[in-house]
Amino acid sequence: MKNFSAIILAAGAGTRMKSSLPKVMHTLSGKPLIKWVIDSVSSLKPDNIVVLLGHGAERVEEYLSDINVKNLKIIYQKEQLGSAHAVMQAEKFLENYSGNILVLSGDVPLIKKATLASLIKKNQKASSSVAVLAAEVANPFGYGRIVKKDGFLERIVEEKDVSIAEKQINLINSGIYCFDKNLWKALSKVKPNNAKKEYYVTDTVAILKSMDKNASLTVTKDENEVKGVNNRLELSQAESLLKDRKIKELFESGVSVIDANSVYISYDAKIGRDTVIYPGVFIDKGVVIGKNCVLKGSSYITDSKINDGSIISYSYINGAVVGKNVKIGPFSHIRPESVLRDNVKVGNFSETKKAVIAKNSKINHLSYIGDAEIGEDVNIGAGTITCNYDGVNKHKTVIGAKSFVGSNVNFVAPVKVGENVVIAAGSTVTRDVPAGKLAIARARQELKRRIIK
Ligand code: UD1
Ligand code: CA
Repeated sequence: MKNFSAIILAAGAGTRMKSSLPKVMHTLSGKPLIKWVIDSVSSLKPDNIVVLLGHGAERVEEYLSDINVKNLKIIYQKEQLGSAHAVMQAEKFLENYSGNILVLSGDVPLIKKATLASLIKKNQKASSSVAVLAAEVANPFGYGRIVKKDGFLERIVEEKDVSIAEKQINLINSGIYCFDKNLWKALSKVKPNNAKKEYYVTDTVAILKSMDKNASLTVTKDENEVKGVNNRLELSQAESLLKDRKIKELFESGVSVIDANSVYISYDAKIGRDTVIYPGVFIDKGVVIGKNCVLKGSSYITDSKINDGSIISYSYINGAVVGKNVKIGPFSHIRPESVLRDNVKVGNFSETKKAVIAKNSKINHLSYIGDAEIGEDVNIGAGTITCNYDGVNKHKTVIGAKSFVGSNVNFVAPVKVGENVVIAAGSTVTRDVPAGKLAIARARQELKRRIIK
């Protein structure tokens, strides 16, 4: 989109959140509200993004400098005298800018890129001085109402200032507008003549009309994308709207979610066709899942890649790469830097950490495999532990392909086991085992006469 700049209002106190965290730093799907707005706007490549900060400015500024947004300019509104007063603070920076100016609220996070683009286009095509984004909503309480005259936008009136008749209007102001350069003149005429004694940016509509300028309206079909977040209830409602949006997208791309109400799926999850997600699954940020996977009950997955055909049940997976047709669980903990190659099985109450498990290998019961490299076709018996930590440093265990580790074996790392080795059950392996050997490292069983008293 060419020839526009954006102003994002985020200086308000956010009183209704009852929080010490600035409102726009509260998160949806783990991402701060303000970042949702910035991402939508950024995708249209504006010439400038001006963010207005006031309440809790340091906290927001620190975050914004960490994420490094292109063409971002931070401006402060020292006293919060209202949304018009906030926009005015950007005048010094944009007064000579001749393009359109998109004004958004940092607390309207679900707005889509395409809707913003059509609002800007509308303002350009209608040669209006302001285009207001509006929506028909079931419950307009709390929003500014769009008042029309002869079918045309006339003015916006805030909840606290509405007449009884205007209260019935369910066409609401989204808090998102596209202005031309007459914005600055209109702002200078705003007066705090309202119940809250604030300078309202919404008043610019009537002011521009009185200046003989056009004001136009774009009504979005999806009321959900203009829902504002002013309190904790609205925050949780936005979270579920976002989740519903994600699940709808997944349904359309061929993913089955058996009970949409009992899963959590982060907005950024990528999931392949014919994968089935059972109730109780929590897919957090940074997850990619292939085709034909099955994810079952109370599994938590974050920051991981799971390839086609894998089955995960009742497990916790964080920072792992999982190959094709892998079986995890029930009740496994797959920790960061675990790499499970194709056809691997990690089962009941087993934990892996910083471990590469090659193809077809099995760790089926009650094991801890950490700082390890396990070759192909290895069987790790029940209760096997890699003793990787000496109290100061971590050490590595290497087990060669086709080796068989009996039950209840300890590998005291650093230790290397060759290919085709058999380790007898109950062994504590403290020295390397060359390829092809049988290692027994346990006390020999003795049989003694039983004395019966
Ligand atoms: C605002 C609109 C209302 C609209 C609703 C949509 C006004 C007067 N009203 O109401 O018509 O239906 O949004 O969600 O704008 N802000 C500042 N500095 C200030 C005051 C506010 O930066 O001095 C920022 C806030 O941080 C917020 C935005 O402006 O991001 C809107 O303010 P808020 O108090 O949330 O207004 P609403 O009552 O939601
Ligand atoms: Ca608001």
